[in-house]
Amino acid sequence: MAQLWGGRFTKETDKLVYDFNASISFDRLLFDQDIEGSIAHVTMLGKQGIVSENEMKEIIEGLKGIHKDVSEGKLEITKEYEDVHSFVEANLIDRIGDVGKKLHTGRSRNDQVALDMRLYVRSAILEVDEALEELLKVILGIMEENVETYMPGFTHLQKAQPTTIAHHFGAYFEMFKRDRSRMSDIYERMNYCPLGAGALAGTTYPLDRFYTAKLLSFNGPTLNSMDSVSDRDYVVEFLSALSLVMMHLSRFSEEIIIWNSNEYRFIEIDDAYSTGSSIMPQKKNPDIAELVRGKTGRVYGALMSILTTMKGIPLAYNKDMQEDKELTFDAIKTVSDCITLFTGMLATIKFNKDIMAKSAMKGFTNATDAADYLVKKGMPFRDAHGVIGRLVLYCIDKDCSIEDLSLEELKNMSDLFEEDIYEAISLKTCVEKRVTVGGPGMDAMKKVIDIEKEYLGI
Ligand code: ARG
Repeated sequence: MAQLWGGRFTKETDKLVYDFNASISFDRLLFDQDIEGSIAHVTMLGKQGIVSENEMKEIIEGLKGIHKDVSEGKLEITKEYEDVHSFVEANLIDRIGDVGKKLHTGRSRNDQVALDMRLYVRSAILEVDEALEELLKVILGIMEENVETYMPGFTHLQKAQPTTIAHHFGAYFEMFKRDRSRMSDIYERMNYCPLGAGALAGTTYPLDRFYTAKLLSFNGPTLNSMDSVSDRDYVVEFLSALSLVMMHLSRFSEEIIIWNSNEYRFIEIDDAYSTGSSIMPQKKNPDIAELVRGKTGRVYGALMSILTTMKGIPLAYNKDMQEDKELTFDAIKTVSDCITLFTGMLATIKFNKDIMAKSAMKGFTNATDAADYLVKKGMPFRDAHGVIGRLVLYCIDKDCSIEDLSLEELKNMSDLFEEDIYEAISLKTCVEKRVTVGGPGMDAMKKVIDIEKEYLGI
């Protein structure tokens, strides 16, 4: 049991207490950040004359050596240490002797862990943002190729109006684009350095907190030392933003699963992204989409967990906060994996365009357009709605579509119908006429695609 304290204790820690309290099994993931933060801290101590130039250099060399040895597998982060901070400090002292004991001058594990976690989350934000950017590129590629690929649009999971793959995928483009903007908002708000806050009330050493903040590429130091060691808002915000990413991925997954089903056959998921059944030889299952949908619960769980952990904690640091790590690490890995796999799955999906177009033609997706046709010929919309409603009933009875009816049959419903009705309610017209920005018409869609291309810098 290697721990950084013990002076005021007369008894050994109970073994169960030690294990319950220790965090090395998970905060070892903060190793890189701990070294980076420690190097910045001691560089500042050196600049301020709190340690000598030589001491600073020795400590930095020692920290770099530890980092190298761990990276090369020569040194292992083992459970004999309470946490990653103890591991680094104990190894530093082993390596360079008593001078290593000066590293922790003007620092507490409270501001140290606050820093490590911020550094970790800060780079995770960028990592998730990058993965989202890749996903957006794939979605935009699919949109570009499918501005004229017709499919039914749904409400209540019932065919509503025709649209295109470009338009449907464009909806997800907007969602993931907003997810990226949430990432950059959070980044901006959280990018302040807590180092120098000490245990809670700062220190009596003449630390230069602006300098450490600069060394670690923060916008500046945090402005209240108690808040610095107690703030986990950015973790909550990040997990909330990750939950939204998962919600979007999960909705998309649900559609992929439905479209890939034998009943729909709108798409075919590539063999590389499907799995088989141990008993039913005919099966090709959309497991990746299902897993992404399923893992959403786990990320929401992390968000609920941190919100609940934080709600009753008095200022300043309390050990409850150690609970921020496992769930955050797990959520980051889960979301990164989900985005990457989902992107690969999307990039290799085959669209059964004929089946989609045929499906769009059935189910009276042109009923609104038929009503609009009558409106353009002078009928008030509410009346036109009634006429087309009766027409649909008639078609259901005859088991046909509106466009299958003869002009005579149509005229029986309203004598405003003329030969041009067939053109007016064709699939192509229904989509192409929707030209206002945000709609599926080709011109409108192409304009949006250009805007999104510029946004992605491609
Ligand atoms: N493992 C602790 C955490 O994750 C580090 C901070 C410990 N501070 C303390 N006062 N015991 O929060």
